[in-house]
Amino acid sequence: MKLVVLTGAGISAESGIPTFRGQGGLWRNFKPEELATPEAFAKNPKLVWEWYDWRRQLISKAEPNKAHLLLAELEGKLDSFFLITQNVDGLHQKAGSKKVIELHGNIWRVRCLSCRAEYELYEAPLKEIPPRCLYCGGMLRPAVVWFGESLPKKELSEAFELATRCDVFLVIGTSGVVYPAGYLPFVAKEHGARVVEINLDRTPISDMADLVIRERASVGLEQFLEKMLNL
Ligand code: OAD
Repeated sequence: MKLVVLTGAGISAESGIPTFRGQGGLWRNFKPEELATPEAFAKNPKLVWEWYDWRRQLISKAEPNKAHLLLAELEGKLDSFFLITQNVDGLHQKAGSKKVIELHGNIWRVRCLSCRAEYELYEAPLKEIPPRCLYCGGMLRPAVVWFGESLPKKELSEAFELATRCDVFLVIGTSGVVYPAGYLPFVAKEHGARVVEINLDRTPISDMADLVIRERASVGLEQFLEKMLNL
């Protein structure tokens, strides 16, 4: 069986990382247009970096939960398994997942606005805000995708390609309202895959999904593995 999994912020909720939407979601207290757009960064890089520094500190203390760990195990067990994530927290990799298609970048990566160098920077809290490029001293930005920006080409085309040729497309913990990632379950369905959703709440994916598991990610994934894969 060819399995493709798409994850969103909900899979990291049990690790103590706040989601963006829904109960306790970051976008209830913060405005995305002030913190997660290129315009916001151009206007006030210090404010944007302070927000990222806070999130980086939170994430640095977080551990992968059962759901991340189960997916990492699955990668070794199935012949055809692919993991696509909208998350930037790196918890899939920390859980042991080897190949993760990151659609929205990674919060531990930075990119220089002057020389374009891109590299990993694990310092949290940051000593200097905004941080400076280690090669040229230029201003760094988080290497994540902000609203209004394009997703990385290679990752995006790989994700869409995978959606067209899987048997089961499993969606875990995403509100499904941010595009183009939100199209992936629909593309999979159009191409004949069975779509399974694990989410605490109803989403635009729920009505078309072949199976909806209304549980938190860890419990839902255990149920899915028992039911669908007899694992
Ligand atoms: P959201 O915060 O939009 O959605 C999280 C989803 O997870 C919601 O549907 C919740 O119901 C669900 N959820 C919450 N806790 C859960 C749990 N313990 N188990 C299972 N489900 C749970 O997060 P994303 O869909 O990932 O982009 O958001 C997509 C993008 O919007 C993010 O990558 C980010 C954000 O703005 C950018 O910053 C560009």
